[in-house]
Amino acid sequence: MASKRPVTELIHHPYQPPAGFEAVPVGVHKASTVIFANTAAMRARDWRHKDGYTYGLHGTPTTFTLEARIATLEGGKHTLLTPSGLAAIVLVNFALLKSGDELLLPDNVYGPSKELARSTLGGLGITHRFYDPLRPQSLASLIGEHTRLVWLEAAGSVTLEFPDLRALVGVCRERGVTTALDNTWGAGLAFAGFEVGVDISMHALTKYPSGGGDVLMGAVTTRDDALHQRLKLAHMHLGLGVGANDAEMLLRSLPSLPLRYAAHDRAARQLATWFAARPEVAQVLHPALPGSPGHEHWAALCSGAAGLLSVVFDARYSAAQVDAFVDALKLFRIGYSWGGPVSLAVPYDVSNMRRGSPYRGALVRFSVGLEAVEDLQADLEQALAALR
Ligand SMILES: Cc1ncc(COP(=O)(O)O)c(C=O)c1O
Repeated sequence: MASKRPVTELIHHPYQPPAGFEAVPVGVHKASTVIFANTAAMRARDWRHKDGYTYGLHGTPTTFTLEARIATLEGGKHTLLTPSGLAAIVLVNFALLKSGDELLLPDNVYGPSKELARSTLGGLGITHRFYDPLRPQSLASLIGEHTRLVWLEAAGSVTLEFPDLRALVGVCRERGVTTALDNTWGAGLAFAGFEVGVDISMHALTKYPSGGGDVLMGAVTTRDDALHQRLKLAHMHLGLGVGANDAEMLLRSLPSLPLRYAAHDRAARQLATWFAARPEVAQVLHPALPGSPGHEHWAALCSGAAGLLSVVFDARYSAAQVDAFVDALKLFRIGYSWGGPVSLAVPYDVSNMRRGSPYRGALVRFSVGLEAVEDLQADLEQALAALR
C-alpha cells in the first residue's frame, strides 16, 4: 500500500498500552468503535458476553471495571450501568413489564418513579397501584394475577419511613413476584439488600458513590443470571451506555464511599437529635431516631443511616413561613439530590405523597453534606428566626 497521508497516519498510528505498566487507577478507555482483526473475529464476538468488546455502548474496560465494583458493593453478581438513577428505574420497568402487566409501588416512592408509572408506563397499557410500605398486609392484599414487579424503597427518600423489608420481600417471594429495591439510601453499606432476598438492587450512583454532586449515573445489580440477561437485552435495546469519563469519576470516588457515608450519617444523626428538641418542630423523620416511622425495622436490619432527615414543622407555621426559613439558610443550599459535599434543603408538599399522610405541618428534607456539623447547626438556628 502506498504511503499514507499524515492525517491518515495520525489516525492509524499503532498504539498498545505500555506493557508492564501496573498502577492502581483504572485506565480511561474511550471508544464507540471497537476494532476487529478480521470479519471472522467480528462474527465470533457477541456483545451479550463480557469476554469480548464489540461496541463502546455495550462496555469498555473502564465501564466493565466499574460494573464489577458496584456488583461487589451491592453483594450481587452482575451490574449494568445507566446514564442516571432514573434511567436505571426505567430499565428495570421496561425489561420486566409489558402491556397488561401491573406494577406495585410504595406510596412514598421517589416522585419521578410515580410519574413514570402514571404517564409513560400507563400509556403503554401497564397499570400500577400503590401499597403502604409500613403495612406488609397492604402489599399482600394488592398482589394479583397480573402483578409482575414490586418496587421497594428503604428508607422512603423524602418521608424516610423504613419498611419491614424482610416481610415485604417475603410476601412477594411467596407469590412469585419479582422485587426491585431502590437501594440509593443504603448505598450498599447500611444493609445488604440481596441478603434480605430482593431480586434486583437499583442504585442512583449520582448520590453517595459519586459524592461530588457532579456525575449522573445509575446501576442495576442482580444475582440471577437469567434475570441479568433479560435486563442486559433491554439495556442494549434502549441504548443506555455510559461515558468513560463519568465512569472514571465514579471509580475515583468509590474508595472513599464508606468514609463519606459514615460522616454524612454521623452529622445527620446529630442534627436529627438537635431538631427533635426544638419547639418549632412537630416531628423529625430519620430512621435511626426512636419514634421515627419504621425505626424498629431499621434497627433490626441496618448498621448505618445515610445523611437524610426530614423535619415536619409545627402546624402553626404556614408553608410560606417554612419557605422563609429555607430561604434564610446560608450553608444549606436549595436544590434537589443528595450525597454531595454541600448540604441541601428542599420543602416538600407531602399531602399527596402518602395516602392518609399523617404529617400536618410543612416538611423540609435536608441532605446533610460534609461541612462541620457545628456550622450547619448554627445555620439552622439562625434561619429558624425567620419562623417567628
Ligand atoms: C431515591 C432515589 N432514587 C433514584 C433517584 C434518581 O437518580 P438520578 O438523579 O441519578 O436520576 C433519586 C434522585 O434523587 C432518588 O432520590
